[in-house]
Amino acid sequence: MNTTRAIIDTSRPGPLISRHIYGHFSEHLGRCIYNGGYWVGETSTIPNVRGIRSDIVEAMRAIRVPNIRWPGGCFADDYHWRDGVGPKEARVPIVNVHWGGTLESNHFGTHEFMDLCEQIGCEPYICGNVGSGTVREMRDWIEYLTDDGQSPMARLRRQNGRERAWKINMFGVGNENWGCGGFMTAEQYAQEFRKYATYIRNYAVMGKVNWWEAPDILRVAGGANAEDTGWLEVLMKSVPSSLMKGVSVHCYVKPGEESDGVRFSDDSWYQTAANTLAKEAAFVKNIEVMDRYDPEKKVAMVVDEWGLWVDNEPGTNPGHLFQQNTLRSALCAALMLHIFHRHADRIRIANLAQTINVLQSILLTEGDILVKTPTWHVFDLFKEHQDGAFVPVVWEKAPDAIAKGLPRVALSASLKQGALTVSMVNLSAEEEAGVSIGLNAARPLSAAGRVLFGRPTDHNTFGDPSRVHAVALEGVALRDGSVELKLPPCAIASLEIALDMSAGKGERL
Ligand code: AHR
Repeated sequence: MNTTRAIIDTSRPGPLISRHIYGHFSEHLGRCIYNGGYWVGETSTIPNVRGIRSDIVEAMRAIRVPNIRWPGGCFADDYHWRDGVGPKEARVPIVNVHWGGTLESNHFGTHEFMDLCEQIGCEPYICGNVGSGTVREMRDWIEYLTDDGQSPMARLRRQNGRERAWKINMFGVGNENWGCGGFMTAEQYAQEFRKYATYIRNYAVMGKVNWWEAPDILRVAGGANAEDTGWLEVLMKSVPSSLMKGVSVHCYVKPGEESDGVRFSDDSWYQTAANTLAKEAAFVKNIEVMDRYDPEKKVAMVVDEWGLWVDNEPGTNPGHLFQQNTLRSALCAALMLHIFHRHADRIRIANLAQTINVLQSILLTEGDILVKTPTWHVFDLFKEHQDGAFVPVVWEKAPDAIAKGLPRVALSASLKQGALTVSMVNLSAEEEAGVSIGLNAARPLSAAGRVLFGRPTDHNTFGDPSRVHAVALEGVALRDGSVELKLPPCAIASLEIALDMSAGKGERL
């Protein structure tokens, strides 16, 4: 068995891995919100709290979802928030023109989304409408959400049943405005952004401090796909960082083979890994642009749509993007999260697309059955990285190359309250991998882990919902101050190592 040896120097923690890179994206698309998604309505036989499905809330609380981006996506630039507030029986249904022409009741609107976030215990990340909206519509939404005073929108909110204002820390100004959000040029959008962003005011501090000194809502500019840095360059050049605290970048990975979600060869496992890892170079190019205009890294890169995009499940509505989710999807998630860790100083928010029944979902539903996908398990395994300090992994014996020049194993580490979290991937679909972890400035007191593994095509179904699930990682041993273990083929694991930090500095790296 091939064994790699890593050294982790806990005396040199790096930037914080923001918990917000573990965010999710929920669009009005397919069955993410309605027809099996969050919203079942108060009279449903499926257990719910105020119409929101309880098994979904529970599954999302379990992985400590830090934020949800809503209502789109392309849908955001066609959504008019006033249609989704007030008595439900008076709400006018909407035709979801982007996604299959589905008729939606508008019963899941602002109050229901904010209730969902409160039930999960996460932050809202709302995306406003630039493409078909107005500055006034967006400014009124902010007033409705955040004003505790006597403004017209605060009164309307109270009339609709919510006394206290909500707290909004992140707000998106349109989505993909180079495409579905209005087919604008970068220069055009930059001008629009400056105007719209001016009216996203922090009502929470109004009257307490001057508006120009007020702590900001993080206004996120709509961005391009990771490969296109031209759009980003224009934004960075023409919008002051006082207005733009974040820029969105979208990043979808293709599996490299014509296949549906569950039938593919091992070659696609390797190609998915290669395609995911290749995205790091694209992020680095974006970061270089941002560093040129913003060396102090005040502006966050917000990867608010990412994930593996495979073929839809045969026989489903092509506009609903319902896709199965295998260990190959979990591999993409694990490697992408590792990339975000490595660039934690710039990538500070990210949202996997999309939570339920759409693209790379963490949850699938049919009737009252809920399935946690392999991707959900990655978020479960990795959750201790949230708000940990990134710690670089240095190879003493680097992993050897396997198919397509990929490294045999990938590791990422973070430190929080005297404990080290190490997440690991065995990229080989055929062979076990040995891992030995040495610590440079601490002594391991104990180590325990969990692992998800199987064949690349393994997945959970409504008939067999727990086929893929994490189990205890057997055979983890402490030997001469090192932690030693072996990973089965196609494995994603995480290890918690309790540390004695007083154990001297050890050798320097
Ligand atoms: O996630 C599906 C769609 O992909 C989103 O609506 C859009 O922003 C992107 O092109």
